[in-house]
Amino acid sequence: MDLRAFIRDIPDFPEPGIVFRDITPLLADAGALDAALEGLAAIARPLKPDVVIAAEARGFLLGAALARELGAGFVLARKPGKLPHDTTSAEYALEYGTDALEVHTDAIAPGSRVLVHDDLLATGGTAGALCALAEQLGGEVVGCAFLIELGFLPGRAALAPHAVHSLIVDA
Ligand code: PRP
Ligand code: ADE
Repeated sequence: MDLRAFIRDIPDFPEPGIVFRDITPLLADAGALDAALEGLAAIARPLKPDVVIAAEARGFLLGAALARELGAGFVLARKPGKLPHDTTSAEYALEYGTDALEVHTDAIAPGSRVLVHDDLLATGGTAGALCALAEQLGGEVVGCAFLIELGFLPGRAALAPHAVHSLIVDA
């Protein structure tokens, strides 16, 4: 299935010069949603992750379903102040703006194999923060799996030496 056909490009959102990749048509189509999860699971299964970590909001959409598909746990990385228990945090830069992510300090057991997931890789700021959070807790990042990668941005290089796997790469 051509999953790219289910992703809508919205020029100048949320600000001029950004072409926003809108994944809502893919999520709304049962066949495309299934194919996306199957594709991500096929990439991630050989990595044998114990947990999948993903960031709010869009990372949660496929992240928890992917974890279920892999027989792995799911770890939430949230914007500051949203998680109720003890947290550790990492700052990051976006294609537009800056922010930070937090994770519960007991969410990843030391030595766990951690798969980083997000819907989209742009600059690599968000996924880099997820890698940092996993490693702060003693996890081993076994790879990063994305639905879409913006191949004209340096996200893949920013995540080195971590392996980057993407179902769709936009040139
Ligand atoms: C988007 C997307 C990724 C991130 C990718 O999230 O879902 O998490 O940007 O960009 P990067 O590689 O430059 O970090 P956004 O921060 O817009 O938040 P949302 O998921 O809440 O929409
Ligand atoms: N996150 C960062 N850049 C993005 C883009 N161009 N489309 C959708 N989400 C994004």
